[in-house]
Amino acid sequence: MKALLCKAYGDPSQLVYTEAPSPTLHAGEVRIAVHAIGLNYADGIQVSGRSQLPLPFSPGFECSGTVIECGTEVQALHPGNRVLAIMTSGAYAEEVVVPAAHVALLPPNMDMPTAAALPVAYVTAYLALVHRGQLKPGETLVVSGATGRVGNAALEIAARWGATVIAVTGRPEHLPAKLAAVLNLRQDDLARRLLEQTSGRGVDLVFDTIGGSFFDPAWAALAWEGRYLTVGFASGQVPQLGLRQALGKNGAVIGFELGGYLTRRHALVPEALRTLLSWYEEGALTPRPPQVAPLSDGGKMLQRLVDHQTQEKIVLMARE
Ligand SMILES: NC(=O)c1ccc[n+]([C@@H]2O[C@H](COP(=O)([O-])OP(=O)(O)OC[C@H]3O[C@@H](n4cnc5c(N)ncnc54)[C@H](OP(=O)(O)O)[C@@H]3O)[C@@H](O)[C@H]2O)c1
Repeated sequence: MKALLCKAYGDPSQLVYTEAPSPTLHAGEVRIAVHAIGLNYADGIQVSGRSQLPLPFSPGFECSGTVIECGTEVQALHPGNRVLAIMTSGAYAEEVVVPAAHVALLPPNMDMPTAAALPVAYVTAYLALVHRGQLKPGETLVVSGATGRVGNAALEIAARWGATVIAVTGRPEHLPAKLAAVLNLRQDDLARRLLEQTSGRGVDLVFDTIGGSFFDPAWAALAWEGRYLTVGFASGQVPQLGLRQALGKNGAVIGFELGGYLTRRHALVPEALRTLLSWYEEGALTPRPPQVAPLSDGGKMLQRLVDHQTQEKIVLMARE
């Protein structure tokens, strides 16, 4: 098979498109002929060497394709099934082998590029909101970086969950009108506007993908016993919180990192995938169509992503 390999840690542009051995299949695993692969910032972290994956390796956390072989312990999946998969690495290839628990059947109305673009952003947003954040229907949630891939997924999931959703963004014109409020990160007095939106009570849950200057006003507008979910630092700045601030509000700061759920908590990821795909089928989730490129261009496209030269979700096509 062909794969995009990292043979030396460094920039994504050094990835090599080459022949590679097909991965070995074990009892509880599924072999997938890959159609499409979703790109994420974390792929760049793998290629940089910070994840310390042994060389050579193929990076990548998500793909879609067709099942071509099942291990002896796999019962719910069969050759010919259209699926998506989430994994710890190895997606930049024409074939992948993935534990069956992290493979899910596609609804009939989902195409391969859309399927490849969904797992990381939507499973991150779902597990952060529902599992770590304990979001309840009727609660008020504020989402930063709302036009971003993870932020946008959080808006859709929280709305489907029955929360009142406030979006904070630098690009209000890119968001749908159905939200409770869209606030401008750079122009609005955020703390005041968030308190106004909640009749002075404050927001129950913050879903923060950017950090930086969003943190202080968001913490100021957090309700008593509110929860602050920290999911990413797209601004490049990591905010500092004094414990006195947390004590004063009986507030909770909750970290979320998807990787741990791919290796430690197997039951949560399949449950998230099942729920998200059923919501997609019913029309509650409408991810933006991704930009597509051939697998052979993956190094160049990942470089564009990590250099912030694109705002689009990028998907590589391993076959048509
Ligand atoms: N914890 C996890 O498991 C996990 C999983 C996936 C991703 N992440 C992290 O979550 C963050 C978002 O990921 P993503 O894929 O959604 O990225 P993305 O699609 O690039 O979105 C990031 C959004 O943040 C805002 N933003 C970008 N630069 C900014 C700046 N300098 N200052 C303020 N806001 C800025 C923009 O939103 P607006 O235009 O709407 O303001 C942008 O759309 C990244 O840091 C990523 O590494 C974490």
